[in-house]
Amino acid sequence: MTGRKPWQGRFSSPTDQTLEAFSESLSFDWRLYPQDIAQSLAHCEMLIRQGIIPEESGKEIIRALKEIRKEIDSGSFKLDPAWEDIHMAIEAHLIKKIGPAGGALHTARSRNDQVATDLRLYVKETIEDIRNLLRELMAAFIEQAKRHIALILPGLTHLQHAQAVRFSHHLMAYVEMFHRDEDRLADALKRVDICPLGSGAISGTTFPIDREFVARKLGFSDITKNSMDAVSDRDFVIEFLAVLSLVMVHLSRFAEDLIIWNSMYAHLVELPDSLATGSSMMPQKKNPDGAELIRGKTGRVFGHLFALLTVLKGLPMTYNRDLQEDKEPLFDTVDTVYGCLRMARLLIKGMEPLQERMEEATKQGFLQATDLADYLVRKGTPFRLAHEIAGKVVSYALEKGRGLSGLSLNELKRFSPDFGDDVLEVLSVERGVDQRKGTGMTGREAVLAHIAYAEANYLKHNKEE
Ligand code: ARG
Repeated sequence: MTGRKPWQGRFSSPTDQTLEAFSESLSFDWRLYPQDIAQSLAHCEMLIRQGIIPEESGKEIIRALKEIRKEIDSGSFKLDPAWEDIHMAIEAHLIKKIGPAGGALHTARSRNDQVATDLRLYVKETIEDIRNLLRELMAAFIEQAKRHIALILPGLTHLQHAQAVRFSHHLMAYVEMFHRDEDRLADALKRVDICPLGSGAISGTTFPIDREFVARKLGFSDITKNSMDAVSDRDFVIEFLAVLSLVMVHLSRFAEDLIIWNSMYAHLVELPDSLATGSSMMPQKKNPDGAELIRGKTGRVFGHLFALLTVLKGLPMTYNRDLQEDKEPLFDTVDTVYGCLRMARLLIKGMEPLQERMEEATKQGFLQATDLADYLVRKGTPFRLAHEIAGKVVSYALEKGRGLSGLSLNELKRFSPDFGDDVLEVLSVERGVDQRKGTGMTGREAVLAHIAYAEANYLKHNKEE
């Protein structure tokens, strides 16, 4: 349909259909309708209070807007892309419902400050949703860390055996990452939570509007200070996408760890059948596709961040239609991150660590080598020399095809006279782990303290923020 546009006054011919199809945003910005209507309700109320529009028609508009909200909710109002965008679709429908009086709603407002306000409302709400999902994810990690506190596995650097760690310590590393993400979102919120309405198209309005009233009504903490910046600023979207990119980095790293744990090389963790997929050709396959897709979907989120950075770069002041390109990257990022957070939560809750496999794995790789060197240091050997001696012990054990705990005291004594009876304790993997008692370390007590700290501090929603 080639409807008459609200801006058609100065035009003598209708929009070319190619341009109409090329420029419409309704097919994706329809999802801003709850924010758009909430904003219009607040704006209209302000227009009445300030005596800018007659109370009679203002009330009529408010009633009709509430009806429109219900019609869109229920699907009975079909949104036609010919209306270009959600703002014009709602306005056109309003005028169709109550006649020309509906046209008063757009007094003292432009689509430029309107769309900026809708977007800020949307990002604000979404930040809260994602913070909640992050907290739920952290809670799932913490639960598994508590349940499996007894498990020890080889910790890796360079994907090679390093030192033994508690499995819970590894899981709690992710809790720290997600907590930082949640904190970054709380911080970004400060810069989103500012109302641009009243900036008009570029320079404000000649009407005596009350910007603070509208901002308060919509739950914003402040109002923008420069109308030109306000209509052309999308920093808050970029910042949001940057934080979500980091969320994806963390989810993707977890996905990769899970894929490695689950791989035939390590096989330290089993996924339930309900969280794995098969192969159409190879009957024996059980694949961790959920985790692989989290890793894969990270790419599109980074792409969206770069798309928007590129749209903004070099854009002349102030509003340009380029800015309409902010929405698809934003919406797809939000949908992707929601999906990945939910999938990650299912995976962490569903995975079963394999205790015997982990115990077996800690016997490989000479994980106690550092402890052996530290033992000699305590007996008075300088660390560099102790490192050298422990290295020679490892080389000897390798040659003999044995682990460090398989060596006898006599064999050890050949490398240093300082080795005594008590060295055998040092060769116990679990003891070595639990000797690491300080804050942030992998010993049982330290990990339990971290878990308690995270439970007390990371999972609560702080309404004051
Ligand atoms: N659909 C447009 C967008 O998303 C709304 C603002 C249009 N403003 C304009 N002056 N054409 O950016």
